[in-house]
Amino acid sequence: MSYKRSTPRRFPDLTPEEAAQHVQHGMTIGFSGFTPAGAAKSIPQAIAARARAEHEAGRDFKIGVVTGASTGDSLDGELARADAISWRTPYQSDKSLRKSINTGKTHFFDMHLSVLPQNVRYGFLGKFDLAIVEACDVTADGQIVLTTSVGAAPTFCRVADKILIELNEYHPVALRGIHDIYEPYDPPNRQPIPMVTVRDRIGSRAVRVDPAKIIGVVRTNRPDEVAGFKETDPVTAGIGENVARFLGAELAAGRIPKSFLPIQSGVGNIANAVLGAMGANPDIPPFEMFSEVVQDSVIELMKSGDITFASGTSLTVSPSLLTEIYENLDFFKDRIVLRPQEISNNPELIRRLGIISINTAIEVDIFGNVNSTHVMGADLMNGIGGSGDFTRNAFISIFTCPSIAKGGKISTVVPLVSHMDHSEHSVQVLITEQGIADLRGKDPTERGDEIIKNCVHPSYRDELNAYLHGVAGGHTPQTLASAFAFHQRFLETGSMQR
Ligand code: COA
Repeated sequence: MSYKRSTPRRFPDLTPEEAAQHVQHGMTIGFSGFTPAGAAKSIPQAIAARARAEHEAGRDFKIGVVTGASTGDSLDGELARADAISWRTPYQSDKSLRKSINTGKTHFFDMHLSVLPQNVRYGFLGKFDLAIVEACDVTADGQIVLTTSVGAAPTFCRVADKILIELNEYHPVALRGIHDIYEPYDPPNRQPIPMVTVRDRIGSRAVRVDPAKIIGVVRTNRPDEVAGFKETDPVTAGIGENVARFLGAELAAGRIPKSFLPIQSGVGNIANAVLGAMGANPDIPPFEMFSEVVQDSVIELMKSGDITFASGTSLTVSPSLLTEIYENLDFFKDRIVLRPQEISNNPELIRRLGIISINTAIEVDIFGNVNSTHVMGADLMNGIGGSGDFTRNAFISIFTCPSIAKGGKISTVVPLVSHMDHSEHSVQVLITEQGIADLRGKDPTERGDEIIKNCVHPSYRDELNAYLHGVAGGHTPQTLASAFAFHQRFLETGSMQR
């Protein structure tokens, strides 16, 4: 099938600077982008320049920034460095923005990614003045074909008063068809989401808007700002092998059906190693993904036939791999679908489809509570992302992490997490490079024994054992006076080691 880019004369061509003139201090803007994939780039950079100029002239200029999830440096980084973000939600992973949040310059509140679009539609975040979205095509009747992510862009386009489009010709117009755009009705009219397999398509190929809302189009030709991965090291490889071993054993025990179940996997180096190990394990049959982010390892396993289909909300791959995908687009369009994040991460679908979730923790405690977001209880790292959407509703929920961080100065397993994102009620399996802790059907003390024996680094085992078994009792043997002794020691001496 051949595709031709529409050349809609209906919408004025704008420079990024002209587009930025439509942004005023105090506005709330919904930006496309889920990870750097599909994130607007040129207009945010021009807004950052405008903010700097306004600040130099002694005027206030800050906006509310809402996205699908994290974005690229041209959006979160540039705007944060220009001190142009008054508030921000949901997930972010940018160094400059993180600093702005942790020093109180930007108000950040976190949210499960699946609920963001409905919270926007319900009016919980106030009025949206503008949507700024990257597209590979836009037609005169208002069909916007997105690029490498869907995220929350359809909802931003629906609710915003006006829309600015970055028409990025780096992406082929033949991407049309990879997206499946579906927005549920809101209560009391919500219907069951009509999907019973990972592959079902239930929506349209483009976001449909009233063309009168489109202010204009900024033409660009820019790749996504996707960073590469670190090489797999012995620790991440060990975690990956342990996950594959656990899943192989579940399959052999008949607790996972022979045809296997769809996998959700977080992002980053550990997730990459886990998927690689699953592909290499002969006990695990070819499988499907029902996840958020389709990353490099998924594409590699798709080429080898180990992954047969991937449903996600973003295609976040390194530039060379994206070129390869575009050169073989028919092959990949049969095997990948990009959905809005309220569908890719939908609790109803995760429960129905029996998803096995695998996410990474910053720290866990001996009872199975997980901290995904904060360092030493205070500083935000990235955000909860979709980890809660998947963990709470999974067929089996797995968390992975290295047993130690910062060269051993930090034990990732502590007596009590310093911030809690996923409770002991949702977390079923913990896996480090040391081994596997299966928490199912165990009481808090049994969970503690399982985690300490199998997952904790040897240099922290004795102290955690003493904590678990050295108190008077109670259903969850917690000693409030020393629950944060590990953290306190780290803050005072720079190490959790005694
Ligand atoms: N205390 C303090 N710092 C810690 C730590 C701990 N317990 N554990 C890890 N860290 C530090 C690491 O040292 C590293 O620091 P550096 O960047 O200065 O080197 C940093 O945290 C990131 O750790 P890394 O091992 O590189 O992990 P990662 O890139 O795989 O990211 C999370 C781990 C938890 C931050 C990341 O997965 C995340 O943001 N998760 C939440 C959202 C989510 O799960 N999304 C997927 C759902 S679909």
